[in-house]
Amino acid sequence: MAFVAVITGASSGIGEAAARRLAREPDARLVLVARREDRLRALASELGGATVVAVDLLQDGAPERVREAVQREHGELHMLVNNAGGSWRGPFGDVGWENVERHMKLNFEAPVRLTEALLPLLRATAAAGGGGRRASIVNVASTAGRVSRPGSGSYSASKFALAGWSDSLYAEERPRGVHVGLVLPGFVKTEGFPAKELLASPVTRRIVSKPEVVAEAIVEAGPGGKAERYVPRGYWLAAVARILAPALVRRATGGGALSTTTPATEAQSAPGPDDSSTPTAPAAD
Ligand SMILES: NC(=O)c1ccc[n+]([C@@H]2O[C@H](COP(=O)([O-])OP(=O)(O)OC[C@H]3O[C@@H](n4cnc5c(N)ncnc54)[C@H](OP(=O)(O)O)[C@@H]3O)[C@@H](O)[C@H]2O)c1
Repeated sequence: MAFVAVITGASSGIGEAAARRLAREPDARLVLVARREDRLRALASELGGATVVAVDLLQDGAPERVREAVQREHGELHMLVNNAGGSWRGPFGDVGWENVERHMKLNFEAPVRLTEALLPLLRATAAAGGGGRRASIVNVASTAGRVSRPGSGSYSASKFALAGWSDSLYAEERPRGVHVGLVLPGFVKTEGFPAKELLASPVTRRIVSKPEVVAEAIVEAGPGGKAERYVPRGYWLAAVARILAPALVRRATGGGALSTTTPATEAQSAPGPDDSSTPTAPAAD
């Protein structure tokens, strides 16, 4: 039986790596979603074929377009990877609500709406036994969804929201056979998050991971059935420290030791409909 997977943000970075990795699953049928159609088509042909849905996930009707493509081309769905996202850095006093809103729309609202549209298909696949394969949703959050840093409040708010919602959805969908996994990467070199300053120093270079490593974590958190996966794995300590030693974490992220390992990377580079009007500075994870 086929293994049908929708991957958002498949035109670059972690999403592209996840598509390449999932294409190696037996009898995989991929649905690639992002705005840059040329990138998606090139990847689809490299992978020997895939369904391409070139869509801006912020547009009305985008989730329905993805659902229609899945129904038309495949009629079933085993996996949804909510990966598309972005970050625009800046202190709240400078960038304000506008920056919070753009993060919430792309990093929280868009995955929630797409999940709403595709959940019935995932449930139906699970109810039918999935051909022996698990039905799953993987939400790509961030370690910034557990620990917040100056200049990244908007991004963290959207990823905290995604993580909190995922935990709830995990418990809700469990009895229906749809597994929900959460992936929380730290720094990963991609187009949108180039991590140039971290890579420039031999001390901080080693904390920058690769999209392929996150792609493996996505498989673990989806078909693999894991509820939560940090990349690298040891980053769960940051989340624990935030609860057990909040003053220490505040000191580290607010100008102490950790701040030297968390400089701003560049802005999320993909052009959006309102990018020319962005009021914000470069992004970090
Ligand atoms: N890299 C890191 O350090 C890091 C760390 C933690 C978490 N993450 C998370 O990992 C995910 C992937 O990021 P990445 O590092 O792979 O960055 P990336 O290379 O910039 O990829 C972002 C993807 O999202 C898509 N996208 C952006 N806006 C979209 C929209 N409105 N509609 C449809 N697709 C849209 C982009 O495609 P188009 O431009 O073609 O639309 C692109 O494929 C994000 O959720 C990010 O927050 C990244």
